[in-house]
Amino acid sequence: MSPDRPRQIRLNLNLQTAGRHDAAWKTLEDTAGLVTDVDYYISIAKLAEQGKFDAIFLADSLGSLGAESVRRPWRGLDPTVLLAAIARDTDRIGLVSTVHAIYGHPFGVARQLASLDHVSHGRAAWNIITSQNPPTLEALGLSGTLDHDPRYRKAEEFVTIVTRLWESLPPTAIVNDKPADLFIDKAKTNPVEYDGEFYSTHSVLPLPGGYAGRPVLFQAGASGHSRAFGARWADALFTGQRTKDLARRFSTQVKGLAASYGRDPDKLVVLPGLWVIVGSTEAEARQRKDALDAQLDADYLLDQLAERLGIAPAELELDAELPYGKLADGPGSSVLARHREQIVTEARDRRLTVRQLLFNNLSGGHRILIGTPEQIADNIIEWVDDGASDGFNINIDVQTEGLERFIDGVVVELQKRGRFRTDYEYDTFRENLGVA
Ligand SMILES: Cc1cc2nc3c(=O)[nH]c(=O)nc-3n(C[C@H](O)[C@H](O)[C@H](O)COP(=O)(O)O)c2cc1C
Repeated sequence: MSPDRPRQIRLNLNLQTAGRHDAAWKTLEDTAGLVTDVDYYISIAKLAEQGKFDAIFLADSLGSLGAESVRRPWRGLDPTVLLAAIARDTDRIGLVSTVHAIYGHPFGVARQLASLDHVSHGRAAWNIITSQNPPTLEALGLSGTLDHDPRYRKAEEFVTIVTRLWESLPPTAIVNDKPADLFIDKAKTNPVEYDGEFYSTHSVLPLPGGYAGRPVLFQAGASGHSRAFGARWADALFTGQRTKDLARRFSTQVKGLAASYGRDPDKLVVLPGLWVIVGSTEAEARQRKDALDAQLDADYLLDQLAERLGIAPAELELDAELPYGKLADGPGSSVLARHREQIVTEARDRRLTVRQLLFNNLSGGHRILIGTPEQIADNIIEWVDDGASDGFNINIDVQTEGLERFIDGVVVELQKRGRFRTDYEYDTFRENLGVA
């Protein structure tokens, strides 16, 4: 990066079907077929590309219907298949697909993501996840979860095999020699001979591992194991801190770990989630949020909050603060315990009432920013300049109108201040993301 050029901000779009707000779908017409409407997703991706986003990201969960999928249009299409369709109607935007690294076999995943990279001409990324939520376990017929140690040993083997397979057929091995009837020279391949604790393979991938190099690696997780894993493998990390201090601590820690593994810490891009609600005035943005909130089922949200806190819903009074004395103390190591700790800390620090908590996206996890384009741009720049992030994984309240507001307002504001690209500089995602 040139010394005179201010640090560039990374923006990734978390593409959720109707939008991040749970009531978003109630504001749209014809939602029955939305989950499988490929043209609808393509239109969002094209818009994000016009806004010069680094990438679009499709989260995923392997498994049958979870609570979220029955309450609104949620997810359905296989993310890698959908991104392959999007690839053919876009040119420069990165395509981040979520695929488990503890289920299935690494050979299939290596081929699937290498294929996306070829189909998209070098724009594929793999969001490596290790989650084991109940619908996933049920769908796969598994009776129990794996603890962090074996889970990350398994993921380590999985990613080791995938990345080695991506190197197994170097383009130089395709000799394409017609007189000799020789297309691939096996002597020039790098077969993967791997026998591990969880996986074995003896194979060469039948295609080069990427269009120009290999797919970009993303990772999402929160535990200590996950941080160490991400710092070693990932080019970019999705994360969920809701305060600048926590985010700065996370970023400093993972970049320090990356450096300790001999990596350039600037090539580990940290992207906390950020849900934006944009208005031409702050009051208008708040009204927009209130109008959406009014369509939510407050009783359901109250039950959810109580469940997360581990108490009875009757213990919660809407216009009072949390009954701190009745809550279990201290963080635990499980995702749920960490989540509870985060909710309680934030509620206490900000003196939030139960009603405020219900509508503050504590269930979805990510921080919400409500305001004008200038206010949101200020906050984004402040986090990046204070070392809390390299950019954000942006959640849009209602598609596609919320994305238009974000691009016309916040993106344009960041561009005016010289902090965000006005065009893509390179062809591949790896280069555009600055992790080549
Ligand atoms: C920001 C963020 C995004 C995530 N996205 C997904 C996802 O799309 N699908 C999924 O199954 N798990 C997702 N996860 C869960 C992680 O893959 C991981 O399984 C979870 O954080 C528990 O692992 P840990 O205890 O090692 O942090 C996400 C986690 C974080 C922090």
